[in-house]
Amino acid sequence: MSTLFQSIKEDHEEMYEYHDQYKRARERGDVEAQARWARQLTWEIARHAVGEEIVVYPLMEKHLGDKGRELADHDRKEHQSVKERLYKLESLQPGSEEYDKLMTVIMDSLHHHNDDEEIKDLPLLEPAIGEQASKEAAQSFKRTKKLVPTRAHPAIPNKPPFETLLGLLEAPIDKIKDYFAAFPTEEEMKDAKEELKHRDHDAAASRAAAQAGNQ
Ligand SMILES: [Fe+2]
Ligand SMILES: [Fe+2]
Repeated sequence: MSTLFQSIKEDHEEMYEYHDQYKRARERGDVEAQARWARQLTWEIARHAVGEEIVVYPLMEKHLGDKGRELADHDRKEHQSVKERLYKLESLQPGSEEYDKLMTVIMDSLHHHNDDEEIKDLPLLEPAIGEQASKEAAQSFKRTKKLVPTRAHPAIPNKPPFETLLGLLEAPIDKIKDYFAAFPTEEEMKDAKEELKHRDHDAAASRAAAQAGNQ
């Protein structure tokens, strides 16, 4: 089981990887690929931000006192500015100079922000909560991310609001939290998964039994 630091860092690396893919597509002049990697990257950033805002920053506020609140506020402000820039990026044409410039600005500020989390935030938080709690937080963080769609779903454009990237970026964190609260809890899912191991529906046998019953 990974710790919170490991999970967060893994995500950060994922962002840098997608950005590298984007840059390579740009170097070879493949606009379609640039658009695809930029999209993958922006969704990843947005999902990651939601996960941190729901799981990580509240932990910092709870366990690190004034310092934690200060760091969390600062981080949320930086998220907000990245979100606004991602929002703007959506309105620009992939392949254009303007698009690429904004992408560079986004990634520069994000790099700084991510480094802060890795260098300042998590090294303070992890010892304060202990290894077990860190691992549990990592699980919640991953679960939260799983509930955010990995990409826009073309079949259901407006439901729920964050099925689209812009909807997700605009949604207040409380609204997202409420949405998640409408899903089964981890505990409930555990029971369901346990039961699932023993499920073995024999379609042919039950069909035959039903038919025999009808006769
Ligand atoms: Fe962050
Ligand atoms: Fe982060």
